[in-house]
Amino acid sequence: MSTDFSEDTATDAVLDSFADTPDERLKTMLGALTRHLHGFIREIEPTQSEWESGIEFLTAVGQMCDDVRQEFILLSDVLGVSMLVDAINNRKPAGATESTVLGPFHMVDSPQRELGEDIALAGDAERCVVRGHVRSLDGTALAGAVVDVWQADDAGFYDVQQPQALPEKNLRGLFTTDADGSFWFRSIVPRHYPIPDDGPVGKLLSATKRHPNRPAHIHFIGGAAGHSPITTHLFIEGSPYLEDDTVFGVKKSLVRAVQRIDDPDLAVRYNVENPFGLIEFDVVLNPTS
Ligand code: BEZ
Ligand code: FE
Repeated sequence: MSTDFSEDTATDAVLDSFADTPDERLKTMLGALTRHLHGFIREIEPTQSEWESGIEFLTAVGQMCDDVRQEFILLSDVLGVSMLVDAINNRKPAGATESTVLGPFHMVDSPQRELGEDIALAGDAERCVVRGHVRSLDGTALAGAVVDVWQADDAGFYDVQQPQALPEKNLRGLFTTDADGSFWFRSIVPRHYPIPDDGPVGKLLSATKRHPNRPAHIHFIGGAAGHSPITTHLFIEGSPYLEDDTVFGVKKSLVRAVQRIDDPDLAVRYNVENPFGLIEFDVVLNPTS
């Protein structure tokens, strides 16, 4: 290991220090981290006080974290890192539902619900119907598949953000598909909302003239035997921020219209007032082998 540390020898000195790391994957990661971090420093040439500001920022990010707030993941989200990791780990054949970020609000278990149940436990907003099928890539309907859904309300809040005002498990549900692979439930059309922006990540966004908003969406985790599970959203067509989601989560294939349906018989079947909004979203899973 070199002891004559200089700008020229710095990177090799640190790489050499990891030479005996027994875990090859860890060694590869530390090597790449060292090369990229040193490359960044050589490109930026930070002043001592800029370097200190960077350390203070990361310290503040860490101090903002607790059991329910994960500021490092938010930082990863707004830098596009979460979506890049997601894309690398969810390469799918054409036709399979695309993935997107999990987000921080899947922090409680969704309650098991019957098909057709209303997941909106509060408020008098107009109910819509969300329905779809879970299918395998070849089109086979998957009976007994599980669909976990959670969403914000029509003011843009998840239950866990307003525990005083909203009932527990509001707008959450775990559904099992019927014999023809279909699921349906009643809900309300969610609103777009800002990610938590009262911490250092929010300061980063405002310092860079970025907004903190996500377009309106409903989260889904779909799973079935013999298939890779998918973590995804459906995005509401026409929502603000579809083109500039602050966490880069939008994929065009996931945008769905709220169709206006005027069909009294169907309204009775779904137990909603006529006319009503209908969102259709099929979940297509990739077989594991
Ligand atoms: C969400 O959609 O719930 C979310 C995703 C990333 C950051 C914050 C919120
Ligand atoms: Fe969300």
